[in-house]
Amino acid sequence: MGEQAKIWTAKVLTLFPEMFPGPLGCSLAGKALQDALWRLETLDIRGFATDRHRTVDDSPFGGGAGMVMRPDVVDEAIGHALASAPELPLVFLTPRGRPLDQDLVRGFAAGPGVVLLCGRYEGIDQRVIEARAPLEVSLGDFVLSGGEPAAIALLDACVRLLPGVIGKETSLDEESFERGLLEYPHYTRPAVWQGRAVPEILVSGHHERVRAWRLGQAEALTRDRRPDLWARYADGRGQPNQTTKG
Ligand code: ADE
Repeated sequence: MGEQAKIWTAKVLTLFPEMFPGPLGCSLAGKALQDALWRLETLDIRGFATDRHRTVDDSPFGGGAGMVMRPDVVDEAIGHALASAPELPLVFLTPRGRPLDQDLVRGFAAGPGVVLLCGRYEGIDQRVIEARAPLEVSLGDFVLSGGEPAAIALLDACVRLLPGVIGKETSLDEESFERGLLEYPHYTRPAVWQGRAVPEILVSGHHERVRAWRLGQAEALTRDRRPDLWARYADGRGQPNQTTKG
């Protein structure tokens, strides 16, 4: 009882702390950071190196190009981050991870925060990954030069779901993925632009018909562009959205 609600906290382990807050200091996330709706802490992995030269990486056993981040240094950094916040899930950004999606984002946003481990060079020694067993998360099937942009994307997606970040007047439940569908198209003034009129239904004032039209658009878009999402959605509804004929 009387448990004080803690601020949602992100701790980022990186060799490039100067990349933060970066985009997260702007717009919605930046305003929320200023308003203390979330906290961002960056930990410079290099600060956990123990030798004179502050070495964080070395050449790979077995040969090959590039450098590998040392397990001892990365482990110290993780240990330091978790010592003061053992309740935070440890996430490692890597193309080998589980693809990030809105379900995962919702889960992180509903929790106390995240510790994000960003790799650079060719990778991180596998032993520290096994020892610490982070949740491995990928932004998609492409290779970034490091985990930092992925961490920024993940945090942006989480922060906008935190209570108070987006005003009540803006509905989160109609946007893409919230119902397993891509979002319907939007229109504003002018009503006719370069000879293109906005769909008639939207200026009709029939709220129920507008709602049905938007759902139809969202369904058609999802069916055309994302058969994977469509299959799951149609499954959940019991049957696909077919035009009933007779
Ligand atoms: N680091 C490098 N590429 C990445 C990706 N696609 N997702 C997450 N982290 C990464």
